[in-house]
Amino acid sequence: MRIDVVSLFPEFIAQSAAVGVVGRAQQRDLLDVHGWNPRDYAQGGYRRVDDRPFGGGPGMVMMIEPLQACLRAAREADARPAPVFYLSPQGAPLTQTRVRQLAAMPRFILLCGRYEGVDERVLAAEVDAEISIGDYVLSGGELAAAVVIDAVARLQDGALNDAESAVQDSFEGDGLLDCPHYTHPASHPLGEVPAVLRSGDHAAIARWRRMQALGRTWLRRPDLLDEAALSKADAQLLAQ
Ligand code: ADE
Repeated sequence: MRIDVVSLFPEFIAQSAAVGVVGRAQQRDLLDVHGWNPRDYAQGGYRRVDDRPFGGGPGMVMMIEPLQACLRAAREADARPAPVFYLSPQGAPLTQTRVRQLAAMPRFILLCGRYEGVDERVLAAEVDAEISIGDYVLSGGELAAAVVIDAVARLQDGALNDAESAVQDSFEGDGLLDCPHYTHPASHPLGEVPAVLRSGDHAAIARWRRMQALGRTWLRRPDLLDEAALSKADAQLLAQ
């Protein structure tokens, strides 16, 4: 899949997309991330991309013309249709369900705002949806774009080395939080690895992990249990 990112800091996007799972997904040709700088499409010697807000008030607003020209160039770089998503705290909260939808698209464009935001007319004319990564305010959309790209990249077939691990993650599959994980040494001043994990009894290990996932979700994020895919076996485990 292809993701084009319109940002005043395309180097931030390029760097964050060059490492880890996202970098590997790009090397494996599962994902193609391209940065586009609206400043390259701005007019005049100063290559101005922002201006003062009508009605007064603090901060600057990103102007229509450079953004529109930049979006057009990004769109035309590939023949496949590309919906545009604007990263903003006003958007719909990003969930794993939304990430799965995005990961199944052949391509999309992420628009990152800076300053006070983007001229509303660009949003109305060019943007298909707004995405928020949480109820807090970042100084720009770039970190949020990097979050979207990471979450989407790891769902591409072949991006993860252990194909199972995406399914076992928190939220993937059943909508529960993840169970705890341990590695060597089994015995350490910080604590012992639970005996069941060393028992070799795979059914008992699976039951223990499921119990932990259910218990943690109940304690930490009970809101998730309403939507989680719980089975009769889960009810039996909880009744034990
Ligand atoms: N830009 C600024 N804050 C943001 C947020 N919380 N989510 C997405 N984009 C943003």
